[in-house]
Amino acid sequence: TQKSSSVEERLLQICQLLNANIDYYDWVGFYFKNGDKPELKLGPYVGEPTDHTIIPFGKGICGQVAVSNENFVVPDVQAQDNYIACSITVKSEIVIPLFVNGENVGQIDIDSNTPDPFTEADERFLEFVNEKVAGIL
Ligand code: SME
Repeated sequence: TQKSSSVEERLLQICQLLNANIDYYDWVGFYFKNGDKPELKLGPYVGEPTDHTIIPFGKGICGQVAVSNENFVVPDVQAQDNYIACSITVKSEIVIPLFVNGENVGQIDIDSNTPDPFTEADERFLEFVNEKVAGIL
């Protein structure tokens, strides 16, 4: 019988596949709500290590999505005042919330070194990815 991989391993594989196959997906990771605390905690990711392993609700692009429950597409990160910089090479970002039974439990976060690369097709695609992820959590 084949050994099934853990949720963490499967999420890491998804990050690796997205990063390897979409040239403008330079950092790909999942954040999840951290128990009952009003904060996000970094889960599996691919790309440069980040100091921001905990993000309070409301802070940065990620923290805003934790409270808005809406997609957040940022064509130019330098134009955002509530933004947490992880790397000086990052030009743009997309964050798509992840729902389980209608509850916002986390998000997929993608940084790009390309300015303004994200389209509605990225939103629809990443919503689909998150729907599949919700099914394995
Ligand atoms: N830029 C994010 C922080 C997470 S890093 O992109 C990995 C934000 O503003 O919330």
